[in-house]
Amino acid sequence: MKIIGKFPSTRLRRVRNSDWIRRLVSENNLSASDLILPIFITEGKHKIEKIKNMPGVNRFSLDNLPKVLDKAEKYKIPMIALFPNTPIKKKDIKGSEALNEDNLVCKATRIIKKRYKKFGIMSDVALDPYTTHGHDGIIVNGEVDNDETLKVLEKQALLQAQSGCDVIAPSDMMDGRIGIIRKILDKNKFYNTKILSYAVKYASNFYGPFREAVGSRSLLKGDKKSYQMDFKNYNECIREVAMDINEGADFVMVKPGLPYLDIISHIKKNFKIPVFSYQVSGEYSMIMSAVKNNILSKKAIYESLISLKRAGSNAIITYFALDILKNIEKFK
Ligand code: PBG
Repeated sequence: MKIIGKFPSTRLRRVRNSDWIRRLVSENNLSASDLILPIFITEGKHKIEKIKNMPGVNRFSLDNLPKVLDKAEKYKIPMIALFPNTPIKKKDIKGSEALNEDNLVCKATRIIKKRYKKFGIMSDVALDPYTTHGHDGIIVNGEVDNDETLKVLEKQALLQAQSGCDVIAPSDMMDGRIGIIRKILDKNKFYNTKILSYAVKYASNFYGPFREAVGSRSLLKGDKKSYQMDFKNYNECIREVAMDINEGADFVMVKPGLPYLDIISHIKKNFKIPVFSYQVSGEYSMIMSAVKNNILSKKAIYESLISLKRAGSNAIITYFALDILKNIEKFK
């Protein structure tokens, strides 16, 4: 690129010297329309459980959901994402609870759909909240078997759509799942049920607090490297996204967020499809603990979200969604 402008006729500080001009030339913005709020749900009644290592994030029993949903509605959040904490007695090696039409996610979806009309509901398709080994798929001969897992994911996706889920989000990273899910949804006339593919999901060390929250951390045997992506890789994300678009994904997700800004930007430049990013639990915990200990200002939260947008995210899943909207005028 040609360098334009020379000092002293050009002074870049000229357009930074007051708030009104900074507002006019700013290239990015953040509002409720950019945010997706994840919500952890748990069985039982009258429960609001704290999550270790995620200060400010709670698990809600279904009767207490209005406590968080009323706020989501008030701040005009466009979509919530449901994540279940399944009691250990309901977990097994095949994750059968995923196919129970009265499991937490299906029940919650039905209840929320009845009372709240203004936001969309997204739910993960993957088996890890339901398996005793904490993996996202079915184990055959000691390995997570791709095609055996697809048979279950297909049924799980249909069940969630039947319960009222608007956006099916396969987070399992099996090959071929988007195509199979699109096909079963269409066959059952769920033409408008959308698919958000976790197309670019890395085998990351930043998921620890989330696994704690859904109760899979202590159960997980080994790691997820045989299905989630190697965090050393860059170009591989193009093939993941291209294949998922061909199979019928409506939008794709990059996960985690902040350590993967290069990936978000690479996808944005190569595909004209909405790209979502997930500011994951470990990112939340790091920033939040620094804020709690007065090491960082709360404005760092806003900055982290703007950087995800600047990289090319259309929307961001973040545990900060409510907090940021409450304070947004102060943070800008
Ligand atoms: C489950 C799933 C995970 C996250 C979202 N869905 C964890 C994992 O893959 O082990 C992580 C989200 C977060 O850390 O906030 N497949």
